[in-house]
Amino acid sequence: MITALTNSKGGVGKSTLAVHLAVWWQERGADVALVDADGQGSSSLWLQEAAPHIPVFRLQTPDDLLDQVPELRGRFDHVIVDGPAAMSEVTRAILLVTDLALLPCGSFAIDLRAAAEAIRVVQQAQKIRQRDPQAILVPNKLQVQYRLSRELLATAKSLEIASAGGLRLRQAYAEAAGQGTVVWRLGRAGQPAAREIKELFDGLFGEDSQADEPGVAAG
Ligand SMILES: Nc1ncnc2c1ncn2[C@@H]1O[C@H](COP(=O)(O)OP(=O)(O)OP(=O)(O)O)[C@@H](O)[C@H]1O
Ligand SMILES: [Mg+2]
Repeated sequence: MITALTNSKGGVGKSTLAVHLAVWWQERGADVALVDADGQGSSSLWLQEAAPHIPVFRLQTPDDLLDQVPELRGRFDHVIVDGPAAMSEVTRAILLVTDLALLPCGSFAIDLRAAAEAIRVVQQAQKIRQRDPQAILVPNKLQVQYRLSRELLATAKSLEIASAGGLRLRQAYAEAAGQGTVVWRLGRAGQPAAREIKELFDGLFGEDSQADEPGVAAG
């Protein structure tokens, strides 16, 4: 299965989620690879520190992505694609090959507008491919969880996209990046973040998730 993290807006958590998801799958015994499609290379560098045995592929042109990602699908249980911060041809190519698109987005009105653009591009890919990719909004850096989630969920509904529970704004995510690790290896300080991100992944991919229609929990 291919899971891509895409959103044209920068700094919304694409690489954070990509690295954590790759390590999470590996710890569950899956054969996993990361495709870093962002020229900044932040997720590949981070993952090489956090989990040196996970293969990393840096594919940064539409042609490379269209050619090689479908091949990687046959070689690994899970391929995680970390997208760039642009609604570029690279992002369009990712959306043509991925099974699932997770769209991390911030929790302010401006983030929702940026997400609307990203969702439009996802919906174009869905029209071309008839159905795929499945797309799920992942609200990130939530500060006042309840109210913002409601606003986000209402927007998600109006944009006809499913939404996952999301992640709160927590220092642990930045610390994990700084230390080249994942939040559940930070000890006590990482525990609330570890709980919430594992809950997110369980909801998306766990045995209880509705894999075929990830309508997913409200925040
Ligand atoms: N829930 C969170 N709470 C606090 N900080 C966070 C959270 N999620 C991500 N961050 C921090 O926000 C910054 C941007 O995150 P990240 O690099 O994952 O975003 P991105 O979408 O990949 O950015 P880019 O578009 O530049 O590739 C990083 O410093 C990261 O540590
Ligand atoms: Mg990134």
